[in-house]
Amino acid sequence: MAETLNISGSTKAEIYESLLPQLSSLLSDESDQIANMANMAAALKQAFDFLWVGFYRVAGNQLVLGPFQGPIACTRIEKGRGVCGASWQKNQTLIVPDVNLFPDHIACSSLSRSEIVIPVANKSGEVIAVLDIDSENVNSFDLTDKKYLEDLVGQLNQ
Ligand code: SME
Repeated sequence: MAETLNISGSTKAEIYESLLPQLSSLLSDESDQIANMANMAAALKQAFDFLWVGFYRVAGNQLVLGPFQGPIACTRIEKGRGVCGASWQKNQTLIVPDVNLFPDHIACSSLSRSEIVIPVANKSGEVIAVLDIDSENVNSFDLTDKKYLEDLVGQLNQ
């Protein structure tokens, strides 16, 4: 798997198209959600070399840091706070093209310039975690990322 995920010279959509079936088969053999989040974060980090890829899991009224790849990060985020807390509260994917223009952005790393946060829901539609991806460049994320990443996190429910 390690070799096939690292595809250079491909479009973003092509990389996601390659990643989806590989992750799908990896995840379908394992029922532990933390193990699956860990492999998903590793696969995305390896395929795209984003600054930070990881999960925050819902614990009461807060998000708590879960499996991730990248620099150390804030461990707890209140509901509604930052991009992650807002995505959880709205149960909606949020794309932030420039974190300096998002007033409540929580700067875990000063290198982060743009981000996307995707809520992870259980079978009842309740948000149980968010997938947070940070980039060192502005405008890194668009509707292509939204579409594929929503598909990917949907696999955590199966
Ligand atoms: N950027 C997030 C905080 C988490 S770190 O980036 C890993 C936010 O504003 O919600």
